[in-house]
This record gives sequence, C-alpha cells and structure tokens, in this order.
Amino acid sequence: MGKAPAIAEIIDVRLSRRAALKGIGAGSVFGLFGCSTAATAPAAGGDGSAPLTFAEVGRSSDGTHHVAAGYTAQVLIRQGDPIRRGAPQYRPGRQTGAEQEQQFGTDNDFIAYMPLPRGSSSSTRGLLGVNHENHRALLCFAGVKSLADLTREQCEVQMAAQGHSILEIEKQGNTWRVVEDSPNNRRISANTEIRISGPAAGHPRMRTPSDPSGTRVLGTFNNCAGGVTPWGTILTAEENTQFYFAGNAAQGPEAAARRRYNLTGRPRFYEAWSRYFDRFNMDKEPNEPNRFGWIVEIDPYDPKSTPVKRTALGRAAHECATSALSHDGRVAFYCGDDSRMEYVYKFVTQDRYDASRPEANRDLLDRGTLYVARFEADGRMLWLPLVHGAGPLTAANGFQSQADVVIEARRAADLLGATPMDRPEDVEAQPATGRVYVVLTYNEQRKPEQLNPANPRPNNRFGHIIEIVPPLVNGKPDHTATVCNWGFFLLGGNPADPSHGARYGGPVTETGWLAAPDNVAFDPQGRIWIATDGQDDWAGFNDSLYGAPVSGPGRGVTRAFFTSPRGSEICGPAFTPDGRTLFLGVQHPGDEKGSTFEKPSTRWPDFKDDMPPRSSVLAITRDDGGEIGG
Ligand code: FEO
Ligand code: CA
Ligand code: CA
Repeated sequence: MGKAPAIAEIIDVRLSRRAALKGIGAGSVFGLFGCSTAATAPAAGGDGSAPLTFAEVGRSSDGTHHVAAGYTAQVLIRQGDPIRRGAPQYRPGRQTGAEQEQQFGTDNDFIAYMPLPRGSSSSTRGLLGVNHENHRALLCFAGVKSLADLTREQCEVQMAAQGHSILEIEKQGNTWRVVEDSPNNRRISANTEIRISGPAAGHPRMRTPSDPSGTRVLGTFNNCAGGVTPWGTILTAEENTQFYFAGNAAQGPEAAARRRYNLTGRPRFYEAWSRYFDRFNMDKEPNEPNRFGWIVEIDPYDPKSTPVKRTALGRAAHECATSALSHDGRVAFYCGDDSRMEYVYKFVTQDRYDASRPEANRDLLDRGTLYVARFEADGRMLWLPLVHGAGPLTAANGFQSQADVVIEARRAADLLGATPMDRPEDVEAQPATGRVYVVLTYNEQRKPEQLNPANPRPNNRFGHIIEIVPPLVNGKPDHTATVCNWGFFLLGGNPADPSHGARYGGPVTETGWLAAPDNVAFDPQGRIWIATDGQDDWAGFNDSLYGAPVSGPGRGVTRAFFTSPRGSEICGPAFTPDGRTLFLGVQHPGDEKGSTFEKPSTRWPDFKDDMPPRSSVLAITRDDGGEIGG
C-alpha cells in the first residue's frame, strides 16, 4: 500500500470518536460523555456539549473588528497606554524606553484573568496578565528603512515594549476599566531581573560575563502564549528568541546547539540590539542565547516578586505551558514548540499540589519529568521521558547531565524519535474531560514524503487540531500517563473544496470553517474557542475567533464569533469564571506588506490621523449580561 492511502485511512480512523476511544481504558473514557459527567470527571466546568446560540459573523477583510450581534467589544487597553496614574502618555514615534516601561507593551498575546482577591472566583475584579510578544518598528517608528539600522533609543523602546503587563481591572455594570492607582500594576520587560531555577541553573553553559553565577538573567522577550498554575501564578512562554542574537553562530562549542535552535547570527528582526548591548552579541557573550527560550513563572499577586525561569520544562520556541491537575494531585504542563517539524512536550511535577500549603507549591516546577510526544498510527501516543542517562541521553551523545538535556531539549527529543509536527501552538486540556487539544497551526513546507500519522497533509496551509485522550483513574484523567489515545478533532480548511482535505465534526457554514488555528481557551461550559493567526495568508480573509462544542451532537462544528482588523492576529482568549466576559487580544493590526507608520493599512482602534494602529485587549460582553456563546 502506498503512503497516501495509508494516511487517508488513518485520518478516517482517527477522526471517528469511537476509534479514538478504542484500546486503553475505552470503557471508562466513554463515561466522560455519559449523563453522569459530574460523577466521573472532576467538577471543573462542563463537558463542552452545550450548543452555541449566537448568530455567526460574516467573513471580513476590512480595517476594523466585528463581533456577533448582541455582543459588544470594548477596548480595555492599547499599546502605549499608561499602566498607572501619572505615567507618561503615549507619544507615537517619539516614545523613550523609560516611558514605554510605564506603558502597556506592544503585540499583546496571551491573556490570563486572575480573580481578586487571590483564591476567589470573582468575575468583576481581577488581575489581567498580558504577554507582549513583539515590537513592529515599521508600524511604531517613523521613516524606518531597515530593522538593522534602528538607533539605540529605538532599541530601548523595543526592549521595554516586550515581556508582560499586569493590570488590576474592575467591572461596573457591563463595562471594564483599568484600576490606575492599583499597586499591582506592573511591567516586566527585557530589562527586568529574573531568577533561573531548575536543572540548568548555575550550569557553566548558563554563565556569562555579567552573570558568572548562571542564575540571574536580565529580561524576557517574545512572550507568546502561556498558562496559569493551580497555585495562582502565570507562566509566560519565550517563543522565537532566535531573532535577537547576532554574531558568528558557527564559532565555538555552542555552534551545533545554535544550529538546532535556528540561531543563525543574522536575526531577522532584532539585529540592531547587538550593536548597542553586548549580551545580544554571541561573539562577546556566547552563552546568552541559552538563557532564553524558557517558561517563566510570574506571581501576579506580589508586585515585588522576581519572575523565575523554570528550566526543568526544557528550552524551545515555547508557545505555551498550560496546566492540568492529575488524578493524584500531581500537575502536568503541556507545551508546544512552535516551529515547523518541532515537537509537543509535557512536564509532570514530581510532587503533589497542595492547596492548603502555598509554600509547598512554590517550586513544584523545579522537580519532575519532561516528556516529548510520539504519535503512533494505531491510535496510541507515547510520552517519552527526557531524562539524563535514560536511553540515548548519555555522555556518549554529549549529554553530561540533565542541564544539557533541558538546554538542548530539541536534540534530546530527536534522539528519542518524537513526532515532528505542523507547528505546535496551544496545547490545552479541557478541564472536565481531561482531553488535551493540540493545535497545529499550519506547515506549508511539509512534503508528501514527510507525512506521519498525526500530520497527514502535505503543504498543510490550514492547520489541524489533535485530541489526546488520557486514561482515567477512578474517573479522573491521568495526566501523568505515558500512554494515551489520540484522534483528530478537526482538519482546517474549506470542506466544500475537496482539495483542502478539511474535516469537521459535522457540517459547518460557509463562514464557520477556519484556517491557521493558534490559541484556544475553554469557556466555563467546557466549549472550545479557537483563535486564528494566518487566515489572511492562507484563506484570504481576516483572522477570526470560532467556538465549538467538544462533545455532544455539535462536537467539532466551528462557528465564527469575531473577526479581527486586517493585518492582525487574534490572541489570548480568556474567560471570567462566570463566562460573562471574554478577553481577547488583537495583535499587530495593520501588519501587512507595504503598511508603515506613515501609511498604515488601518489605524485601528483609534482611527485618528496622528495615531498608528495599536495592539489592544478587548473585553467582550453580551448586551443582556448573559454568558458568552449562550
Ligand atoms: Fe507566537 Fe506561535 O505564535
Ligand atoms: Ca500563538
Ligand atoms: Ca502564531
């Protein structure tokens, strides 16, 4: 049998829920979909079967956003807005780094809503943790000809604009506002001191002239998606950190490791930083790139706290780190490494989460086991441990300790035979069922000879979502398991065009099919919400947010809820615990070919001649005050 029919067969088999449930623990897994969900699954929201009742929005390609009828999208905060009373106002094109350090950053991505007070489930007062992934010089600075020629002052703005923001917010009626005099409001940037912990902390490969201890690093950047821990901290993921370091990458003992992490020495976006700051020059500080590409833990409830890079979770182009409490109190963290042909990881804590003893949870992320995913054609998937000394991860292959394993997690995963994926973005467990959704955004470079069971389409322009089914133990999902089942949740694209090879759970409307899925979230009823990044490139219309049930008759049937302004992607869907507010990030509006500070393709959201387009966070509510989605 040739390769193509075999793969088509696998799609058919793996799309069927019945097949996905065959094998280990099938009987008990089926219990998740019975009427007795509350008795068989943890009480953490619904099973995601409730129908979505909003009227879909149409496709758009214009310069503004559109939300389903009966809903309102309020602009809560924009790039450059002061984060506290008295902070400087935004001066487009003339900002300084010092000003930007006191203002909301650029390119907002991940959003975490953390109720106030800590431990409550308030849906009217909380902290919003927001990632800032990038800074787009062409849209933010006047007269930029080349990114390599930015001035020192401009680089300082870029360094202050990335990282993370924490804001206290409050809802009055159906309207949210930033509490400008809150002591909790805070910026974390490329200049913030951060502690390094876990197996790589203090290792010689982590030491630099400015930090001979290898335990303190300045800053975090390219913060893409993230996650929230059961103990109330935020995890922010350092993604494309290869775009920041210049120099002769092929020189010295780190050359091979740099190659595996796409550190070319000619970074695409932030080459100018190395001209003014030696730590971005690999010829002068060869180990500095090893100190980026980690998951960073932030305590939003303590504005004086030092963020921590948790190296036990491995080094990658991290998209996210989402938590799932397992049957026995241990916690799993799911991570995607968002590059073409990279892998899906999970980290399982060694110790149990103890809600009654916060101090016992503080360093849970420093001890545990990192795994990488291998998807088999028979519907099983294996989590392979990345543990020094086990299998090929020995000195014979250049791994002297667990520090080497986490610093070069990609190479360790190569040796274990992990499955190369179509750009893993968000990976997130449905809270009630424990099923894990792996979002593969697209991979137009996959060739027919590179297909594998979990990535079945060559030239995959539309992306797909895989569902991992962990076994149940006493009715609860076992997120520590090393053998799970898997199937496809959907394959993106237009089902009316057979050349796309799209598959959904049932008939989708003309406006309901999607491309380039990226960030996902579950509402309190357990339904999935899927934000896209790249529909403009692959489908010809603006990025959108879709909702879909994950069980019941509507399972896997996506419906369009929101469309974003041209040139932008949609990020960070996050719900309040009552499901009545959806926070949504619009990132880089107007970022498209030929669009500049002087002549942007949109000036969303201000639409003022002296204001460039600005990434912003929206608070979406239903006009009648009800739950989002119905
Ligand atoms: Fe920053 Fe993978 O999206
Ligand atoms: Ca993303
Ligand atoms: Ca993306």
